Amino acid sequence: MAPLVAKAVNMFSNDSVNLEILKKRAYNLRWATVADGVIPLTAADPDFRCAPEIAEAICSFTKDRYLSYGPAEGLPEFKESMAAYFQKKRNIPALPGLIFPVDSAAFGIYLTCKAFLSAGDEAIIFDPVDFLFRYSVEAVGGVAVPFQIPAGMLPVNFEQLENLITKNTRLICLCNPLNPTGKVFTKDELLEFGRIACKHNLVILSDEIWSDIVYSPNTFTSIASINEETRNRTVTITGFSKSYGLAGLRIGAVMASNTDHFKRLMEVSLHHSTIHGANVISQVAATTALTHCEYWLNDFLIHLQAMRDLCLKELNSFEGFKCIPPEGCYVAFTNISATGKTSKEMQELLLETAKVAVVPGLKEWFGEGAKDHIRISFATSEEILQDALHRIKNVINTK
Ligand SMILES: Cc1ncc(COP(=O)(O)O)c(C=O)c1O
Repeated sequence: MAPLVAKAVNMFSNDSVNLEILKKRAYNLRWATVADGVIPLTAADPDFRCAPEIAEAICSFTKDRYLSYGPAEGLPEFKESMAAYFQKKRNIPALPGLIFPVDSAAFGIYLTCKAFLSAGDEAIIFDPVDFLFRYSVEAVGGVAVPFQIPAGMLPVNFEQLENLITKNTRLICLCNPLNPTGKVFTKDELLEFGRIACKHNLVILSDEIWSDIVYSPNTFTSIASINEETRNRTVTITGFSKSYGLAGLRIGAVMASNTDHFKRLMEVSLHHSTIHGANVISQVAATTALTHCEYWLNDFLIHLQAMRDLCLKELNSFEGFKCIPPEGCYVAFTNISATGKTSKEMQELLLETAKVAVVPGLKEWFGEGAKDHIRISFATSEEILQDALHRIKNVINTK
């Protein structure tokens, strides 16, 4: 069969997926952790090499052999390139002085919870959503209050959101685009989140790590761009694991919108004491991604859009499977309730019989709202994805 993508062939072709290296290096439920012969469509981490400019920048920085302490608040070039990104791509009047690097978006989420929640305080988290939100809220002694977000274009029930807010609610955690459903929130929805946060004096945590991965015709809006009142209570978090394939470098960014928030976040980060801090090499890599690698991201997106379409067409042809098109992210969140199996049973069946690893919609991964779903990452080559889907089809359609 002719490849679906003609342009982005080189960097995202099957030839550029080196399984020998991935088998040694790709952990977190992926190639290095599964038995030989299993295709891991699990953690959302691309199977592709990062942009060559990033490797060159790391080599050139380390060639000098000076790996001294960096500034606690981040390298100036990192802060400036992040601010330029937020200004140009997200329409936010971002200031380098209010941005600092963290050793992952995950840590940014935890840090924001630590800065704004005391023991017993409540934080609204989406349901379903990545486990990191509940985990972070609970790790600082807070109470996570799930707010159901329907998949696809179905309306968000803001009345229900207001009913969940109590005198103990301090924080509302947005995940936009939303992992695992791939929902991209509209400007009107964000205005409503902003209005409610202002009315109840809540801090907004907006995790936008997926914001570069949005499929046409959907467009991404950052909640910090919608109006000043909302921006002033928003902490925006992003990272480089999803858009640039740099998960192992553990690098992300936190952007405050006022100096009070910035000071609180810096204080709990422990960066000034050097107990924590973002590695300088990772900051150099991330800066290079922002300043030199947009072409790579654009080609990656072309490839991903084709993989998304392939996944949708195939998954929806399997008996009992129903997958709503993700508007963003590179995961296909698929309802399997009509197969009569639980998500755990389906995950085990696919692993044992199809030799394909997927993530089951268990509460501990994504919350109650993921029940009866499995999540499939499609950030791989067309050949690997075709092979995995073919194997799943053989198991499902012959059951
Ligand atoms: C919504 C969301 N936030 C944060 C992360 C973690 O990013 P990082 O690798 O920068 O910790 C993920 C990873 O899957 C994610 O989906």
